[in-house]
Amino acid sequence: MIVGKTQAASQTDMTEYVLPQHANALGGVFGGQIMAWIDLCAAICAQRHSGHQAVTAFVDDLAFQEPVRVGEVVRLTARVTAVFRTSMEIEVMVEGEDATTGRRWPCVDALVTFVAIDDRKKPTPVPPLVLDSDDVRASQAAGEARRAARLAKKS
Ligand SMILES: CC(C)(COP(=O)(O)OP(=O)(O)OC[C@H]1O[C@@H](n2cnc3c(N)ncnc32)[C@H](O)[C@@H]1OP(=O)(O)O)[C@@H](O)C(=O)NCCC(=O)NCCS
Repeated sequence: MIVGKTQAASQTDMTEYVLPQHANALGGVFGGQIMAWIDLCAAICAQRHSGHQAVTAFVDDLAFQEPVRVGEVVRLTARVTAVFRTSMEIEVMVEGEDATTGRRWPCVDALVTFVAIDDRKKPTPVPPLVLDSDDVRASQAAGEARRAARLAKKS
């Protein structure tokens, strides 16, 4: 019997300090740098949920809301929002933070699909998400609808 895992069991938090090498000519973090951190944070979350290595299969549209600048902090929180057979939808919420004042602001909200991979580098089943609250049940249902739209684009 495959035992389910809760959303809390794989939640992943990352904190990055923005240095000059992360920034563009305007002093804000490169979008690509933020995307790399999103991918890393989601990959750790996917590994925690699945118990396997996992690869990025799909990244939904990203909209950058407010920049984060050199000397500020990027906070990322990843959680599994829906689980399918071998794939998982992971939401990564990214915020900027001014560590001197505690002010925080939304930067970007990403949805990434990861596929768990076995030792032969083939997709492998993952534990279901434990649907232990109305929020998690709604999240799984919304993820299933988004997955159908993604796979429709593929064919
Ligand atoms: C992702 C990958 C493993 C899927 O392999 P595949 O041979 O298409 O495998 P399958 O058709 O059996 O699909 C496996 C799962 O991936 C999902 N998937 C495949 N393409 C997808 C896409 N574009 N969007 C969302 N899910 C997708 C399938 O729905 C299936 O999920 P399920 O088992 O939960 O139903 C393969 O395409 C791959 O290795 N891609 C490259 C990944 C990569 O290099 N990422 C960047 C570096 S980590």
